[in-house]
Amino acid sequence: MKIAILPGDGIGTEIVAEAVKVLGALGLPLQLETALVGGAAYEAHGHPLPDSTLKLAQSADAVLFGAVGDWKYDELERSLRPEQAILGLRKHMGLFANFRPAICYPELVDASSLKPELIAGLDILIIRELTGDIYFGQPRGRRTATDGHFPGAPEAFDTMRYSRPEIERIAHVAFQAARKRSKRVTSVDKANVLETFQFWKDVVSEVALEYPDVALDHMYVDNAAMQLVKAPKKFDVLVTGNMFGDILSDEAAMLTGSIGMLPSASLNDKGQGLYEPSHGSAPDIAGKGVANPLATILSAAMMLRFSLQQPQAADRVETAVKAVLADGLRTADIHASGTQRVSTREMGDAVVKAIGKATTN
Ligand code: IPM
Ligand code: MG
Repeated sequence: MKIAILPGDGIGTEIVAEAVKVLGALGLPLQLETALVGGAAYEAHGHPLPDSTLKLAQSADAVLFGAVGDWKYDELERSLRPEQAILGLRKHMGLFANFRPAICYPELVDASSLKPELIAGLDILIIRELTGDIYFGQPRGRRTATDGHFPGAPEAFDTMRYSRPEIERIAHVAFQAARKRSKRVTSVDKANVLETFQFWKDVVSEVALEYPDVALDHMYVDNAAMQLVKAPKKFDVLVTGNMFGDILSDEAAMLTGSIGMLPSASLNDKGQGLYEPSHGSAPDIAGKGVANPLATILSAAMMLRFSLQQPQAADRVETAVKAVLADGLRTADIHASGTQRVSTREMGDAVVKAIGKATTN
């Protein structure tokens, strides 16, 4: 089982180090290989996704990814910015299906900005299409700029498009995921304004005919954004395009109290996956040892389950995370009175210890 470890920028290196420690505690025959990505790769090799990094990722069974980006690269030409690394990995590896679960851990109910009764027991799954939409439209509008800006340019544009096969395959993923849950899918679109999303709605409805046991409803994205804060528990599986999924998944993540808790998986049709926390590189807190490593540790658990066929090891990691939360350990982002504040490393150590305890019991 070969895993490409791509820590990236900002807090990426700190949180991935903790997840690697946790993987090491499982006693599995894992072959880990690390490479630079994002701003760190740009500094060393002049490109955010060097060929060697892409090749390593493509040759691995799974990729464990930290985060990329820093404001200091905002002035760079777009193709060299750190974000291009993650977009490039998604595109080149065909990672079209992005799973972003938003689960509220009982211990963290009070960390949410919503009333506890609205989110206690929350367990929803956002499935975001990841390789199409306005993110990858052709042509991508860059009129006169060479440095990423538009001095005197008359306009800029990005085209939104989806092909039938792209919508069909993500719809199948959503219906199949729903079959393992409560058999409900909400497809999020903007069919009242955009042709692309009328098409999306039509194609998802066609695919739904193959899943008579799963209930499908459609919702406009603005309404979905509102319903997510009004009554998030009404949702189960949401499926949507790349752009809407980007926005709604951040919103859903924050409902649970901390974006520092939520893992994500991006899968292709070969079973390869890229696993990363739902949050970003947070350069403002990088190097301070305060970042929450749990989203990355839980991403490693998703990796064990989805790409490495190690469901028991995945369970062990998830159980250990619940145990440290139950013990009252909290990083700064989820810290509250009556709990014990710990650093990034202490949190990772505690998870490793909890795994050890569960093994000897
Ligand atoms: C995410 C991020 C990325 C995205 C950025 C870093 C390109 O926001 O994974 O949600 O927009 O997809
Ligand atoms: Mg995002």
